[in-house]
Amino acid sequence: DPDAIPRFVNELPRPSRINLPNGGNRTLVMSPTWQDVLGGGPGPRTPVWGFGQAGGLGGTSVTWPGPTIVARKHRPVRIHWANALPFEHLLPVDTTIHWAYSHTHHTIADHGVPTVVHLHGGHTGPDDDGHPEAWYTLGGATGPRFTGTRFRYDNDQEAAALWYHDHTMGLTRLNVYAGLAGFYLLRDDRELALIEQHRLPGGPYELELMIQDRTFHPDGRLAYPDIPDTSSEWPGGPSIRHEFFGQVITVNGKAWPYLEVEPRQYRLRLLNGSNSRFYRLSVDGRWPFPVTQIGADNGFLHRPHRLDGPLVISPGERVDLVVDFRDHRGAVLELTNDAPTPFPKGAPVAPPADKVLQFRVDRPYDRRVPEPRLPEALRGAPYRVAGTPARTRRLLLLDGRDEFGRPKPRLGTVEHGALGWDDPITENPRVRTVEVWEVFNTTYETHPVHLHLAHFQVLGRAPFTATRDPETGALSDIRVGPAQPPDAGELCPKDTVMAPPGRVTRIKVCFDKRGVYVWHCHILEHEEHEMMRNYEVV
Ligand code: C2O
Ligand code: CU
Repeated sequence: DPDAIPRFVNELPRPSRINLPNGGNRTLVMSPTWQDVLGGGPGPRTPVWGFGQAGGLGGTSVTWPGPTIVARKHRPVRIHWANALPFEHLLPVDTTIHWAYSHTHHTIADHGVPTVVHLHGGHTGPDDDGHPEAWYTLGGATGPRFTGTRFRYDNDQEAAALWYHDHTMGLTRLNVYAGLAGFYLLRDDRELALIEQHRLPGGPYELELMIQDRTFHPDGRLAYPDIPDTSSEWPGGPSIRHEFFGQVITVNGKAWPYLEVEPRQYRLRLLNGSNSRFYRLSVDGRWPFPVTQIGADNGFLHRPHRLDGPLVISPGERVDLVVDFRDHRGAVLELTNDAPTPFPKGAPVAPPADKVLQFRVDRPYDRRVPEPRLPEALRGAPYRVAGTPARTRRLLLLDGRDEFGRPKPRLGTVEHGALGWDDPITENPRVRTVEVWEVFNTTYETHPVHLHLAHFQVLGRAPFTATRDPETGALSDIRVGPAQPPDAGELCPKDTVMAPPGRVTRIKVCFDKRGVYVWHCHILEHEEHEMMRNYEVV
């Protein structure tokens, strides 16, 4: 009973940090641990999976989320992602979808849980990207695109909040749910100067917040449903869901935590690390509240943008905020969520998932630390992807059903209709060329569309109508309505974009490393049911 779980009794945990200002090599081990997620009880009682630094005797402390890696632009980092996951999954595994062991005789009991880590938002080479088929296990099994367990990150991109997470074919939703995710903060000189000059909050006044929804068994174990949400034809056994919406909101691996703050400005690096849930956030349900957005996925906005209404964040996206508590000394404020499930036209959010976090403005103001004065501009000019597009691709998001009658949302192209994971690659941009991708969403919900490797400029969205081929889903007679510009909070380098239903969402991308990458919906239950495709930069 989620209502029996006390809210705001646990302090917000801060992930430990691995500072690599000069780059360097580290080993991070993925393994099981116990964590006190729910609090208010007899101590740690939730088995989770996490990441920890390999240390000396018993020196490994594994946590969910994993430690925050703090890296520096142009200082390469190498991580050995060591798989020490067990020979049994924490959660029910659906073996009927396309998953790591589909085309093999392997089982988890024989060879262990497959994993491979992707640095989300990283401008990474194809062999270091954590392709879903590059997985490996403790028992020595490997996927068809396995390239090793040591990954190189060049960090040749601007300051941003990236994140690392499991990306194994058909297991991502479960491995991430079990806890395999962490932050990767990339710093550059411009950002460090802004912090040093007290133009941005730094040190203890900058916090990363990973928001994830979870459901629990009465004994505190993580619960993930093992039957489909809709289907009469399911023969039994663990099944994927169309979506997963948890009853309990966790931040940094803690249920509904509170955060004690000084009456000053804080920089909050928000990540929606949930499987399916969108959040539409407000402070205390009221606006305006002094919250300023300064960046998103892969970097800063041109100018700080004072929010005048709720902030929507979809799975995979990050938002960089400065929240001003100066006029709220002594107040207790709640970060609330009213996003329907699915977004935007689903059921209203069911309490207690309507609350995320509590701020208590009760810490004494430290006068030795100057109050930051936000700069007028955070980057020299509005972010643009320069160059004339070599071509425009028309891509498709569409609904479908699998052989068991389960909902199976798909990707495809406007010309072909639906395409599956095993269909030949259709997106093969030439290296160092710019393309416009137009994503036509013919489903009833918003999908967060994510591209590996490339950062993009959001050009805007427009309503459309079309005739759909009943067999393939291909579109003809497309009529596109008036274009709407991107939201103010999207005017920065992005890697995940909300593609709302009935709209075509346009992005402009430069592909600058050769190789095979993926693009997919970041609703993990969709991604894993083949709403994911390879693309190849040639
Ligand atoms: Cu965060 Cu391909 O994913
Ligand atoms: Cu989706």
